[in-house]
Amino acid sequence: MSIDFKSVFLDRAAEVSSALDEYLEEKDNYQKKIYEAQRYSLLGGGKRLRGVLCLTGGLLAGGKKSDVMPFACALEMIHAYSLVHDDLPAMDNDDLRRGKPSCHKKYDEATAILAGDALLNGAFELILKDSRVDSDRTLAAMKIIALASGADGMIGGQVVDLEYEGKKISKEQLLYLHSHKTGALISAALMSGYTAAGGKKENEAALKEYAEKTGLAFQVVDDILDVIGDEKTLGKMTHSDDKNGKNTFVEFLGLDGAKQYAEQLTLQAVQAVSPLGTEGEFLAWLADYLLGRKF
Ligand code: IPE
Ligand code: IPE
Ligand code: MG
Ligand code: MG
Ligand code: MG
Repeated sequence: MSIDFKSVFLDRAAEVSSALDEYLEEKDNYQKKIYEAQRYSLLGGGKRLRGVLCLTGGLLAGGKKSDVMPFACALEMIHAYSLVHDDLPAMDNDDLRRGKPSCHKKYDEATAILAGDALLNGAFELILKDSRVDSDRTLAAMKIIALASGADGMIGGQVVDLEYEGKKISKEQLLYLHSHKTGALISAALMSGYTAAGGKKENEAALKEYAEKTGLAFQVVDDILDVIGDEKTLGKMTHSDDKNGKNTFVEFLGLDGAKQYAEQLTLQAVQAVSPLGTEGEFLAWLADYLLGRKF
């Protein structure tokens, strides 16, 4: 009987969501607003792709989901911070996120900046407080996450994204932009879970190849959905890229060209993980699912 991978994905996503709800408690203190704002942006929405990839990395390494849950939650916190800041007027100026007013609309800009900062710091606090794997593995996985989030990772991509608004860029620059602003954290999600659970070196290259191709395809599809998606289903504003003069793969290759490129990347991702057993099959299914997603 074939496995219902969609249910596997949704179950893992739900586990990440409930762990996040537990980790980031409401507080009744002077600064309770910052806990409220973090919970507002972190809970009650989002596909939990990065969390699920981290858990899957842990399972591929022969570990348990619970061993890598703090890392999975940390990745979702960093991702949520990046969205809170990405929506600010100084960046993409978008008022809708995960089907609700963006953090700065619900609260105010200062609160959104601080909530993002708190989520980023909270991610590393969580790993330091709650990691259940030994300190060498904890540090190795943290290093993967920190590098992917910083100026040579996600932030690097965001800088190029903003600096080149309204300006033409080369294919090489566009690849840098997409693979860093989005691909880096997606790749770190799978690889940090794998590393935290003590995965063998021999499968690392295949997993990295999968994660890089899937991460890039994910942003190409995000560009496509910004043009042809439905605002209600997406839970965020469409035509935001055009409004901001963004460099996207739709702009660069046309709609059909972008779709073909995402298909080609997905095929490469699927091929990379085909020898990796059931969890490899799950990853292959996931790459296809993400290609066909509507949100
Ligand atoms: C949106 O990411 C931002 C990008 C990096 C493209 P997701 O599409 O994973 O957002 P959520 O977590 O499901 O809301
Ligand atoms: C966001 O890219 C990437 C990060 C937040 C790091 P986008 O600006 O395309 O994401 P959306 O479309 O607003 O979700
Ligand atoms: Mg952006
Ligand atoms: Mg944006
Ligand atoms: Mg987008």
